[in-house]
Amino acid sequence: MTHETTVTRYAGTLTELAADLGDLRYDALATFLQDLSAKIDRDGRADAGRGRKKLAASLHACAAHLADAARETQTAWQISEPFMSPVAERLAKRRPLSNARTGVKYELGPADAANRMETDPTTVVSICNEPPIYDLLFAERCTGKPYAPADAERFLAWAERGWHDGTHFVYLIRSDSGEVAGAVDIKSANLPSAEIGYWLSARHSGVMTNAVCALCEVARGTGYAELFGLVRQTNIRSANVLRRAGFTPGETLTKNGIRYDRWAIVSHDRATPG
Ligand SMILES: CC(C)(COP(=O)(O)OP(=O)(O)OC[C@H]1O[C@@H](n2cnc3c(N)ncnc32)[C@H](O)[C@@H]1OP(=O)(O)O)[C@@H](O)C(=O)NCCC(=O)NCCS
Repeated sequence: MTHETTVTRYAGTLTELAADLGDLRYDALATFLQDLSAKIDRDGRADAGRGRKKLAASLHACAAHLADAARETQTAWQISEPFMSPVAERLAKRRPLSNARTGVKYELGPADAANRMETDPTTVVSICNEPPIYDLLFAERCTGKPYAPADAERFLAWAERGWHDGTHFVYLIRSDSGEVAGAVDIKSANLPSAEIGYWLSARHSGVMTNAVCALCEVARGTGYAELFGLVRQTNIRSANVLRRAGFTPGETLTKNGIRYDRWAIVSHDRATPG
């Protein structure tokens, strides 16, 4: 048998294949990992039969690790499954991202129960205290006090509840090392029109437009007809993100004396970063 370096029945690259498999629902991913484990184990047994002991031992160890991965993924499914609303289930996708400035890789993933353990609240605290983010999003609700660890815990619990109840959907943007870099959210399950929001650490600037594009793609696949963002007229960086992601400005409204532009994208507009 020839061992190929590509999967001939799959058109994408191996990296794309890994991303597509990673997007499977956890129970389906667990089945895949179990099947892969069984296949590698069979190869190991065949090599053992040909007297290739070292190779066989290596393949058996690989099969055992894959079987462990399958069990953990099944556990992730058992944790998530009772909490999945139909919209949440469709939105709960991970997407690879890259930083448009540096090319560094990131990932967009749901801040749900299954991912809570991976999230270090202290990183959330430090990002939410960065001046532009704190001033715009948290100064008022923290009544001028610093964003505290308890605020991060509340945010993560609220995010988890959103996925559980199917009411709002927060995603975290993580660097390759798993560190939180920012967040984006869809604020309701109202498919005709839903608001989005976001924040990103200045240390990771260059990811947000791509994150919003990825969010639009997942939302479109879930059936959202329109997404919109309310942007203070002075928040040029935020307006730039939405413009680059294919949103267009519409009406202007005033809330608590602050003027906002409503930027929207409808599902047949393609999100194309500029
Ligand atoms: C709004 C906010 C998320 C924007 O972050 P950002 O780092 O400016 O956004 P991006 O990561 O998309 O873009 C950063 C840079 O990368 C470039 N870039 C990003 N994506 C790109 C792409 N796909 N193609 C080309 N260039 C791109 C941009 O040109 C931008 O460069 P510039 O600042 O010189 O114009 C951030 O400033 C923030 O968190 N602000 C506080 C909270 C906030 O305002 N939230 C929104 C409330 S409505």
